[in-house]
Amino acid sequence: MTSEHKLGVLFICLGNICRSPMAEGVFIHLAQKRGLLDRFDVDSCGTGRWHVGNPPDHRAVAVAYRRGIQLPSVARQLDPNADFKRFDLLLAMDRANRDALLAAGAPPEQVYLLRQFDRITEGHQETGLEVPDPYFGPDDDDEGFERVLDMLESACEGLLDTLTEKPTEPE
Ligand code: 4NP
Repeated sequence: MTSEHKLGVLFICLGNICRSPMAEGVFIHLAQKRGLLDRFDVDSCGTGRWHVGNPPDHRAVAVAYRRGIQLPSVARQLDPNADFKRFDLLLAMDRANRDALLAAGAPPEQVYLLRQFDRITEGHQETGLEVPDPYFGPDDDDEGFERVLDMLESACEGLLDTLTEKPTEPE
């Protein structure tokens, strides 16, 4: 590791076309706003391979675009050999993703549910720390994606606070 080592942050969901590309875009957007993007190596992937090579779902792109957030992802599948070395933090959207990472041999100390970093969900049971899958919602209704984006913004702010050790604001 050199002094130029970037902290590797990998967001993981099932298909890599909804939640993890949105998390990746949100994290990049917020890190850029804080002037910290060059500290991180950021990517996303899916545990499944149905959508490899595809851009994010059109509903994810639309809700992100309305908040000024771009989604640079092209879907790819998790590559255990490369990803567990390259990325320091493996951030799963739900418990099934997390369990798939562990089953694929991910070092447990690198594996988290993303919402564990959300200040709003601090102290919640694991069941309350999942980012729900919006994919099977109505094709012409962005509401599920808006809710997911709210969660991801809050969780990524908390993650960035943790990674940059920003002290808690007084009440
Ligand atoms: P994601 O959503 O895991 O948030 O990308 C999904 C997208 C596609 C499928 C499942 C979940 N699928 O079964 O095709």
